[in-house]
Amino acid sequence: MRECNVIAIANEKGGVGKTTTAVNLGIGLSKLGHRVLLIDADPQGSLGLSLGVSRPDELDVSLATLMRAAMDERSLPQNTGIIHHSEGVDFIPSNIELSGIETGLVNMMSREYVLKEVIQNLKPSYDYILIDCMPSLGMMTINAMACADSIIIPTQPSYLSAKGLDLLLGTVARVKRNINPDLQIDGVLFTMVDSRTNNAKEIIASLKSTLGQNLKIFETTIPHSVRAAESSLNGMSVYLYAGNGKLAAAYESFTKEVNAIHERTTDRSWDDWVR
Ligand SMILES: Nc1ncnc2c1ncn2[C@@H]1O[C@H](COP(=O)(O)OP(=O)(O)O)[C@@H](O)[C@H]1O
Ligand SMILES: [Mg+2]
Repeated sequence: MRECNVIAIANEKGGVGKTTTAVNLGIGLSKLGHRVLLIDADPQGSLGLSLGVSRPDELDVSLATLMRAAMDERSLPQNTGIIHHSEGVDFIPSNIELSGIETGLVNMMSREYVLKEVIQNLKPSYDYILIDCMPSLGMMTINAMACADSIIIPTQPSYLSAKGLDLLLGTVARVKRNINPDLQIDGVLFTMVDSRTNNAKEIIASLKSTLGQNLKIFETTIPHSVRAAESSLNGMSVYLYAGNGKLAAAYESFTKEVNAIHERTTDRSWDDWVR
């Protein structure tokens, strides 16, 4: 039996390519034949917008509905809130209601485990669940880290301040210590790399040599391209919108890197189990 890999796409900074990465990694994995569920854990609702939901705030059912039911220990019919996208992935959208949920979590028992409860029954139906996190390290992101097997950190090379990364890695360490000891970091993904202007190659090389000893940095870097915004505006992946372009090629190669990490871990747990 194959296990479901749950990956949180996180960075406390906004505008670094989390949502774009969630969409194109998700659809990329589905093109490789995997069953994929994307979850929007950001009240801004950008994931749904990028997948063609034009007014997330008008949705009757969203992640907030599922979280609320889990908090109240109510069960909902299987597949409530799941939308199927024409490119093969399923997704659970979010909207502003999720901020109310996040506030409500603060006073709750087991408040870190609400999202884990939500995905528990969904895991058998998917090979990958990707959680698109909000730009903060608050309760919603902690919930994502509590139920994830691993984390991917998208960042622009120039944004990768030591301080920002320290905060994120500090949170990951705390979650590992207190909540989810098996949490791994798959790696840091450099996004919006403009190779013409900002000495991107040198910055990346220097970051690789300083950070690379402790942290995996993906080989693939994602180039800066207007196709990213254009494809989201059209509610589709970059593969469908501009399949021959450099952005599509980069996301395809990144998808293969991620898949290789998880095929390995899945094989290993299978071996352990057989032994
Ligand atoms: N590789 C890229 N090149 C150029 N623009 C990009 C790229 N990736 C994302 N963008 C654009 O940058 C903005 C922020 O990206 P987004 O994925 O929403 O980041 P986050 O989820 O971290 O806030 C969006 O307008 C998006 O279309
Ligand atoms: Mg986002």
